Amino acid sequence: MDLSEPASPTEDDVEVLEGGNVAESVLRVGATVRKPWLPSSPTVAELLRHLRRCGYPAAPNAYGQRPKGFQSLEYVPGTLADRMAPMTSDELRRVGALIRRLHDLTTDFRPGKDAVWESVFPPEEGEVICHYDLAP
Ligand SMILES: Nc1ncnc2c1ncn2[C@@H]1O[C@H](COP(=O)(O)OP(=O)(O)O)[C@@H](O)[C@H]1O
Ligand SMILES: [Mg+2]
Repeated sequence: MDLSEPASPTEDDVEVLEGGNVAESVLRVGATVRKPWLPSSPTVAELLRHLRRCGYPAAPNAYGQRPKGFQSLEYVPGTLADRMAPMTSDELRRVGALIRRLHDLTTDFRPGKDAVWESVFPPEEGEVICHYDLAP
């Protein structure tokens, strides 16, 4: 598994990524994404590593805290769904299957005892970790 950050992202190749509703700002810096570092960031990175170990094809690499105060993630190229033509039935099936597999793989995830989650709607039982960002 390659956990190394792409070589020296150029600080002038920066783009604001729209569409978030939690972080103050989300940036693409070169081939990486930069989000504010939160107490839950190490746990989220652990989950992303679990998904990648299981062969899940849609989990970005988590590169850790760099620079200080920010989490660095692999940039996944693509077009936002709300800027695309409506999906075909096959495309919708593919998205549904990806989400199904994501939820199934989270049932095997056993985070360390220091895991921190920041949930808007804390679950009553910890069975599945949901994506929550399925939009539009
Ligand atoms: N790893 C990534 N690769 C490509 N784009 C991303 C990545 N992470 C986030 N984005 C883009 O940035 C937007 C906001 O990110 P998100 O993680 O949803 O922020 P927030 O936590 O504020 O909701 C997403 O809607 C997506 O378009
Ligand atoms: Mg979001």
